[in-house]
Amino acid sequence: MKKIVILISGRGSNMEALIAARDAGTLPVEIAAVISNRPEAEGLETAARASITTHFINHKAFAGREAFDVRLAECIDQFAPDLVVLAGFMRILSEGFVRHYEGRLINIHPSLLPSFPGLHTHQRALEEGVRIHGCTVHFVTPTLDHGPVIIQAAVPVLDSDDEASLAARVLRQEHLIYPQAVRWFVEGKLSLDNGRVRLAAEQTDGAALIAPAMY
Ligand code: GRF
Repeated sequence: MKKIVILISGRGSNMEALIAARDAGTLPVEIAAVISNRPEAEGLETAARASITTHFINHKAFAGREAFDVRLAECIDQFAPDLVVLAGFMRILSEGFVRHYEGRLINIHPSLLPSFPGLHTHQRALEEGVRIHGCTVHFVTPTLDHGPVIIQAAVPVLDSDDEASLAARVLRQEHLIYPQAVRWFVEGKLSLDNGRVRLAAEQTDGAALIAPAMY
């Protein structure tokens, strides 16, 4: 069975969605370890309760970004994962680290990239007045929140939304598309080829999301 290592910094709800999919038998994967750069990350406890090996590496104990990333990669590589999954890992990764995991490092971002890279995506979407917002799973490249897109989910933005309601609507979709992306990868249907996503999954026209709805 393919192995993954999940990196978190906080709540870990995307990690939980992956654990739940594994437990439901819909994600055939071994979660070899969960690693956090913050000891107080709630997700560490959740992972431990699910009997997953956890590690904490304090980024503040390192002189610089590169030194931390070298230690982090050492920790990850002892598990020899097929895929490294960033799930709310709030660290910018150095180019050396990203290159080391080229094609086997993915991230989830709470916006429809390339719109709204960086932080406070929901607030910024509300400020811009966009009618459609969402989330993106992508391969990680050295440019922050800018890698080749694997899957996206779009949700409507309502006039009544505040940051919390919009974040919650997007998060529900994150919990669906992240397990899907990991499933494609571990089933050998997804790869990165010369900077382009190769996906051997059924693709249909689907339905358009028009927001506000027409009537
Ligand atoms: C998610 O919104 C994810 O898209 C972003 O950070 C948040 C992490 O949430 N990268 P959680 O820790 O998975 O609950």
